[in-house]
Formats: sequence, C-alpha cells, structure tokens
Amino acid sequence: MSGSTRCLIAGNWKMNGLVQDSKDFIAQLRENPAAEHVEIALMPPFTLLHSMSKALSQKGVVLGAQNVYYEDKGAFTGSICPMMLRDAGCHYVILGHSERRSIIGESNAQIRSKLNASWLHGLEPILCIGETLEQREQGVTNHLLAEQLAVLKGAPKDKPLTVAYEPVWAIGTGKTATPEMVVETHAFVHEELQRLGKDCRVLYGGSVNPGNAKELMACKGVEGALVGGASLKADSFMQIVEAAASVAS
Ligand code: PGA
Repeated sequence: MSGSTRCLIAGNWKMNGLVQDSKDFIAQLRENPAAEHVEIALMPPFTLLHSMSKALSQKGVVLGAQNVYYEDKGAFTGSICPMMLRDAGCHYVILGHSERRSIIGESNAQIRSKLNASWLHGLEPILCIGETLEQREQGVTNHLLAEQLAVLKGAPKDKPLTVAYEPVWAIGTGKTATPEMVVETHAFVHEELQRLGKDCRVLYGGSVNPGNAKELMACKGVEGALVGGASLKADSFMQIVEAAASVAS
C-alpha cells in the first residue's frame, strides 16, 4: 500500500443477495478496525441499494452499484441511470467488469460513455481492467491493459476514479496472481495512469479471500481489493478488511 490515500476494500455481490441476506450481512458486520486507513464499500444488486443504504452508512460502509447506463432518462427499458444511483445513496459504480465485457459484450466505447455519465452526476467509477489467461500466455497483457485504460484519454483531471486490476483467469476460480505478477502489473498500470494524467488508487481483484488478502494487500502498488465471492458473508469480508488494516496501519 502506498501514499496517504486510504485503501479500499470493495465487495461486489454480483447477481447474489435477497433481502434476508442483506439483513444478515448487516447484522454480522464488524466495526472497521482502521477507518483512517481503510475504506469499506459494498456493491449489492440494484434491488438492494435503497434498502441497504442507510444501515450501511451507519456502519461506515460506502454504497456502490455494479453498473450504470449512460443516458439520463427515457425509453431505455431495463436500464438504470446515474441519477437513480445517486438517489439510492451510491458513491461508487463498477464499470467494465470482465463479466460485462465478456457476457454482455460491453465495449471500451460504451465504458467511456459510462465514465462520462458517472462523472457528470457525481459518481466515482471503479474501472475494471484485466487480461484473459490466453492473453497472458501470449505476452500481450500490458498491451491489452493499455488499450482498456485508453478510455481515460482526455478524461477530466479533477474527477474521482479508482481502477481495479482483475486478471480474468483469477476471477471466481480460486486462482490468484503471484505477488511478483501483481507488483509488476500494478507498476505498469500506475505508469500508464500517470501517462494519462489520472494516477489513482489501483485495487487488485480475483479470488481475494481471508487466506491470501494480507499477502496481496502488502504488494507494492496495491491500494485495496475488489472482492467477489468472499464478500457475500460479513465474516469473510471483514477478515479481508482486517488483513488490509494490518498492512495499512
Ligand atoms: P471473485 O470476484 O473475488 O469472486 O474472484 C472478483 C470480482 O469479480 O470482482
């Protein structure tokens, strides 16, 4: 972990969670052991945003969404606009998650539009980037990451941003990148962000769990984690927060 910014542990529930799960989760959340060093955020599905908003904020957890559409309003059946997310109490929005890129076919051009719309309405995007196993084996990881980060070309300098590096082959697979790989890739991502004039916090994501969190969070250039599966239960999520706190403080 580096610099004076707080690191961020963000939980991405993906398409999981009913009302009862959200109540159990909130009841079991422990206190943030190092709020001055670690920020906690949760991205539940859209259906739980409103109902979880107040209780999460009382526990010091910042709310975020997993996606947004780039138009303001109108005939876009099934879509959610940035103002609706603000209305529900969101600060963050995940953009460009690999599952949306690969399953829904989201393009870098659409992600760029979503970045702009999010900034326009005061949301902080968490821009996800990452290579597939095939791309890593072909040695094109950095090229691919640079291409994904190019959506930030010409972006306003003063708008808030967090980037999450998530190797696609590590998401939901139980495989994690080695610390060497993480340090090397995060250094490249930071360099590229600096070149684009948007150097910001860079999270690591992909099978982060209570067993590996401390080692991953101690890697140079890592300023937090985007956590999927292990964020569904308050206990494992808080263990990751506690691991980050032990490294950060
Ligand atoms: P995972 O998901 O922790 O379940 O691998 C991470 C993510 O997709 O953000």
